[in-house]
Amino acid sequence: MRKTTETKNFYPLGVLFRVCGLEIDDLESPPEGTLAMWRCEDESGALLGGVNLKRLKGCYILDNLAVREDMRGSGIGLALMETALEEAKANGAKEIWGCAKVPEYYLTKGWTSVPPEETPDIFHCQTCGQFGVSCFPVIIKKEL
Ligand SMILES: CC(C)(COP(=O)(O)OP(=O)(O)OC[C@H]1O[C@@H](n2cnc3c(N)ncnc32)[C@H](O)[C@@H]1OP(=O)(O)O)[C@@H](O)C(=O)NCCC(=O)NCCS
Repeated sequence: MRKTTETKNFYPLGVLFRVCGLEIDDLESPPEGTLAMWRCEDESGALLGGVNLKRLKGCYILDNLAVREDMRGSGIGLALMETALEEAKANGAKEIWGCAKVPEYYLTKGWTSVPPEETPDIFHCQTCGQFGVSCFPVIIKKEL
């Protein structure tokens, strides 16, 4: 049986995010603007997936969603995403933003892509030298 719980301990999530190919500079502290973090674990307490919700410049952001590779495709990612979206809604968010490495995943789940000129200045990606060079994330948004 799996359970998803809020956590204050970023380190294990950060390690998982890194292993899953997400850009994590600092394992010791959550990304700037983090409001809440959740972990999904199995009955033995092993970490299966995680996500964090941020708020920057008044915008809510779904950040660092990842699931352990051998556990993908069984709804863990979606459950984590929905937990973060519910929390954003409970905080009064009307929309939520993301910077997606796998936009196809989000576009089938009610998110839409947003052109760069319509994107608020809230993503590290926008100032990264690799944006559009070796890394091609898509800015996405979902109405809540
Ligand atoms: C993206 C990720 C979080 C999805 O987690 P997951 O637990 O496998 O996803 P779920 O089981 O909730 O969703 C499964 C559904 O999404 C689809 N899906 C999963 N990964 C997908 C992808 N990369 N592209 C398109 N669709 C995808 C599945 O086909 C499935 O569809 P269905 O519900 O119609 O059967 C996971 O693949 C992952 O950790 N990837 C590496 C880290 C990453 O890139 N995170 C996103 C950063 S923006």
